[in-house]
Amino acid sequence: MDTTVPRTSRMSLSSIFLLLAVLTLLGVAAHFWWDNALAYFANYNETGYRRYWPNRIWLIAHIAGGTLALALGPIQFWSGFKLRWPRAHRLLGYAYALGILAGGGAAFVLAVRARLPDFGFSLFFLGVAWWVTLGMALVAIRNRRFDAHRDWMIRSYIVTFGFVTFRYVVELELLNGLGRSKYAAIGWACWVLPLLFAEIFLHWRNVAPRKREVAA
Ligand code: HEM
Repeated sequence: MDTTVPRTSRMSLSSIFLLLAVLTLLGVAAHFWWDNALAYFANYNETGYRRYWPNRIWLIAHIAGGTLALALGPIQFWSGFKLRWPRAHRLLGYAYALGILAGGGAAFVLAVRARLPDFGFSLFFLGVAWWVTLGMALVAIRNRRFDAHRDWMIRSYIVTFGFVTFRYVVELELLNGLGRSKYAAIGWACWVLPLLFAEIFLHWRNVAPRKREVAA
């Protein structure tokens, strides 16, 4: 009996998996945005901004850029979209990059002015990772290294998602034992650990058992 899975059904399973992953990312990003970012656009006053009021211009530039990157990232991974509308994929790619350039530039200022210096230090380097991963993705696509571009875009979006991850993890009572250093510790862990797991995923084929070569 032939037990091989037809190629078309294997493809559609992976597409469904990717679609679910993209929808989950978009859902979590939208929830974060609704809960944390929207208020800064809706209440433009000193009470709404609290301690951020003196840095409001930087915060607005940061949130606007971050919103763009957060929303556009998942669409860029959708291969059907990329194949059908390559021009739109390129345009959204530029918009994603613009979001990170603006959001990252403003993040450096906010990080340096953060109330807790060790927390600001961790976010400053999250900003560095934001720019570096994007830079590598752009260099790769400029040199038409498509696989490398995809891999660096995966890293770039993981870093984009870092602050979202931070927001959810910092709420965990389980970590209250860390005391005041909780913010800095999670400020590092929220992007370093996901990047580490991404490396395992991206390089798994290099450590997996070799496929037996067919004798000529
Ligand atoms: C991934 C790189 C990012 C870095 C390095 C970063 C950095 C920062 C810094 C330094 C602050 C000020 C923290 C403080 O003083 O307490 C901040 C606040 C904030 N960021 Fe980001 N951020 C990043 C991504 C994002 C993204 C993608 C969004 C999505 C819109 C975002 C939305 C916000 C919001 C809403 C605040 C205000 C604080 C709050 O109410 O949660 N950030 N960020």
